[in-house]
Amino acid sequence: MKNINIAIDGPAGAGKSTIAKMVSARLGYIYVDTGALYRTIALYLTENDIADEDIESALENADVSLRFIDGVQRVFLRDRDVSDFIRTPEISMAASRTSAIPAVRKYLFGTQQKIAAENNVIMDGRDIGTVVLPNADVKIFLTASAEERANRRYKELSEKPGCPTYQEILDDIIRRDYQDMHRETAPLKQAEDAVLLDTTTLDLEQSAQAIIDIINEKLGGGNE
Ligand code: DC
Repeated sequence: MKNINIAIDGPAGAGKSTIAKMVSARLGYIYVDTGALYRTIALYLTENDIADEDIESALENADVSLRFIDGVQRVFLRDRDVSDFIRTPEISMAASRTSAIPAVRKYLFGTQQKIAAENNVIMDGRDIGTVVLPNADVKIFLTASAEERANRRYKELSEKPGCPTYQEILDDIIRRDYQDMHRETAPLKQAEDAVLLDTTTLDLEQSAQAIIDIINEKLGGGNE
């Protein structure tokens, strides 16, 4: 039987990963965070100080893979688990920049399609419904206002030392949105057949339930 593929795209900070994790746990699907792949490429290029013109050939040696340990995604560079090193603001900006490079997108395309072909997945990213899984069973475009996304990130970070200001976070989000939406290759945009879900006024539980409702309606099932 064909595996079920659910694509969730949207801008940075819309809550895609938290919400997709909740939904996939309830449905028993594998959650695939494709942003982690782009972040890992950015880490690899930064650590090895690779110039833009050498990126395509350097990718041949990158060896990026996803592994699922107790159903939880970890991302590896060769045999090194880098999952905890790719969440810094520097890597966020670097990933947004390097993800615009066609050779990088081409390199990660097959990895993403293979996981989706072999598993029931909820896959989140920027171009999953438009490019990676154009035939996904369900497509959702998850968004929230830039101010609300900055607000959420600020709350998350404000406990930690050296937290950026709300304004810095907002500026960063606006800059990343612009970069992700205006690149030539696979820009962030809503697929024609995607359902738009705006979570500006929804909490996590309400957002997860809204997604489950959309999935049930599309698949005609009774998943909670
Ligand atoms: O979702 P994230 O913030 O972890 O993603 C990091 C960067 O990777 C983001 O700026 C855009 C890029 N990305 C992409 O271009 N395509 C994807 N499918 C996922 C992420």
